[in-house]
Amino acid sequence: MITIPHNLLLLGAGGFIGSHLAERLLSTTDSQVVGVDLCSAKVEHLIGHERFTFLEMDVSDALAVRRLVQKSDAVVSLVALCNPSMYNTIPIDVIEANFNRPYELVRTCAEEKKWLIHFSTSEVYGRTVSSLGVKGRGMSSYELSEDASPLIMGPVHAQRWSYACAKQLLERAIYAYGHEKGLAYTVVRPFNFVGPRMDYIPGIDGEGIPRVLACFIDALMFGKPLCLVDGGHSKRCFTYIDDAIDAMMCILQRPESAKGQVFNIGHPANEVSIAQLADMMIRLYRELRPEARWDAIETRVVPSSEFYGQGYEDSDRRVPDTTKTRELLGWEPKTDLVDALRASMAAYIEHYSTEQVCRAAG
Ligand code: UGA
Repeated sequence: MITIPHNLLLLGAGGFIGSHLAERLLSTTDSQVVGVDLCSAKVEHLIGHERFTFLEMDVSDALAVRRLVQKSDAVVSLVALCNPSMYNTIPIDVIEANFNRPYELVRTCAEEKKWLIHFSTSEVYGRTVSSLGVKGRGMSSYELSEDASPLIMGPVHAQRWSYACAKQLLERAIYAYGHEKGLAYTVVRPFNFVGPRMDYIPGIDGEGIPRVLACFIDALMFGKPLCLVDGGHSKRCFTYIDDAIDAMMCILQRPESAKGQVFNIGHPANEVSIAQLADMMIRLYRELRPEARWDAIETRVVPSSEFYGQGYEDSDRRVPDTTKTRELLGWEPKTDLVDALRASMAAYIEHYSTEQVCRAAG
């Protein structure tokens, strides 16, 4: 058994990351896990476990959250609106959910003297220096380091940055509470985690535009074009969820190394452009579903103003520097992109291969 804080509070336990973290905590530790979320669909299989309590509750109930914080040894905060299609369409909700509400939690953890492990985002880095026309010095100018890289956002009317800005300000509030009030904190910056249970398929178990993995799976399964926003030139380092959860376990096992730190959790060697990602997923889909119709599969370039609406801008490239996670946590990502995509896609296909899905996919 792995030794970590005994009483853990997971706010946002019902989401993609929360559900995988809860699963791992229950299978490899003897900790008590209290999970809070509005929906239990992704943790249904854990409900009934003797060390798991799931509370269907809104985290904006500050008093109820405070009571739960008081009973815990560490608080993992995963609640967010983290879907780019929302950033330029409902920015007030995005700022509310990613700054105002979690700010209250920061204060509570400081007052109650509890360790806060907060999930921020790799999106706080914004754009690369070279996207602004500044000449780089090779790879090192792209690698984003937690304690050294600048955080570069677009203008206010480019509302895409509402999210990154809210997340950045919250990180600054956490840092300030650590500095002035002694808050014990750890900030995690995820780099495009992928895996089973990520997001949803529009029209089946969610509405709107999910993130790229689910968009492409939806397109492949339902015979729609895979949309390459503004040509699909932006690049991401996709990180498999099991590796990400390994990193979380290292954080929980090494509080003395993890407290007071910001960590990139990402796989630098898994970098691809979105156009390359589409090609890889098409190839893998052929391997996983050789019986599917192929004439329907195509990619299509779509302007971002059409796909997401006005005010969308993109992070052009974000590669994590993993020196700190390696040195302080002893963590390195292991899963290459093909394996990560194959496992994720197989899980989606299995989950969504209902009669309705098969009919639509032909
Ligand atoms: C999002 C969130 O903003 C981050 O907070 C979060 O950390 C991150 O996902 C993540 O999953 O870790 P982003 O990388 O922009 O950031 O997420 P996606 O919606 O998956 O988009 C990735 C890229 O694919 C973008 O360039 C987007 O324009 C493109 N895309 C998306 C397409 O070309 N086609 C699609 O159908 C969907």
